Amino acid sequence: MIVKNSFGATADGRNVDCYTIKNSNETAVDILTYGATVNSIYVADKNGVFADVLVGFDSIDGHENHSDYEGMTVGRYANRIANGKFSIDGIEYNVEKNEKGITCLHGGAELSNAVWNAIIIDDNSIEMSYTSPDGAMGFPGKVDFKVTFTLHEDDALKINYFAVSDKKTVINMTNHAYFNLAGKGDVLAHELMINADAYTPIDGNSIPTGEIRKVEGTPFDFRQFKAIGKDIGADDEQIAIGKGYDHNFCLNDSDGPAAVAYDPESGRMLEVYTDLCGVQLYTGNFLDGTIIGKQGKPLIQHAGFCLETQYYPNTPNMPEFPQCTVEAGEKFKSCTVFKFSVK
Ligand code: BGC
Repeated sequence: MIVKNSFGATADGRNVDCYTIKNSNETAVDILTYGATVNSIYVADKNGVFADVLVGFDSIDGHENHSDYEGMTVGRYANRIANGKFSIDGIEYNVEKNEKGITCLHGGAELSNAVWNAIIIDDNSIEMSYTSPDGAMGFPGKVDFKVTFTLHEDDALKINYFAVSDKKTVINMTNHAYFNLAGKGDVLAHELMINADAYTPIDGNSIPTGEIRKVEGTPFDFRQFKAIGKDIGADDEQIAIGKGYDHNFCLNDSDGPAAVAYDPESGRMLEVYTDLCGVQLYTGNFLDGTIIGKQGKPLIQHAGFCLETQYYPNTPNMPEFPQCTVEAGEKFKSCTVFKFSVK
């Protein structure tokens, strides 16, 4: 079942709608046209009690003024591009340096501030679309983006990303949901598994150094379930740079989940599946309680964790990484599934 409600208007007067998709288990997902944002996901715990497992905002004002991309569809280039610069076929492109005037983070301030067009496809699926003009934020090509959100009867939220550009360009799309399977407090006691033997260490600007480092023997070893908080304060240079986990993991090739998170108290479990090669684990390190989120609750440090499926950061400048360049007219597509259950 899909219900459409108004979610107010942006400060500059653009109307925003919220589409709620609900399945027969009463699992429900709220998706906003602003930022094509997954705003809330209501799932049952082991006793059948529902909670919203996404950290974020209950007003458009929250998203507009304080966004750390909570639940948003992120692109054109999710994660960072070093020095806001890259070249394609010898042509240099300078893109918005929206992070400390040094790096381009999450494609600049375009998609996260766009109101997308929405259509209901069927009882459990909606499609959002947005066209980014050629040169937006400095990126080449007019790109038609389409993202579909489908809530299945097995409580899997499937997100399909499609894009076509009229010029050769780079595309890296993700969703920036902050999960908290307890629906309260912080996520340090959540258990996490990431199917990755290696990760990409970063420099002081959070740009991969180029090294693919084995996780074995490091705080980044999530190959077996481990509490997120276990090594988050470890005496480790990489943990120090990120103030916790803010790193790309190089996913092992597998048909199984890329990552699984589990909250022992509520029993809620999240499995993440993707066809992409990387996932950014970000543990809300830079949240500090000064921003007020849903229901007047402050967004405290580690209030949520993000598993941002993606190409590795800064790939346009790292020829040794798997590339995300698309030709003019070529169809970009990728898929990520967030599947909920209880244990
Ligand atoms: C980045 C973090 C950043 C967060 C919110 C994550 O993808 O890696 O460094 O603080 O997004 O912008």
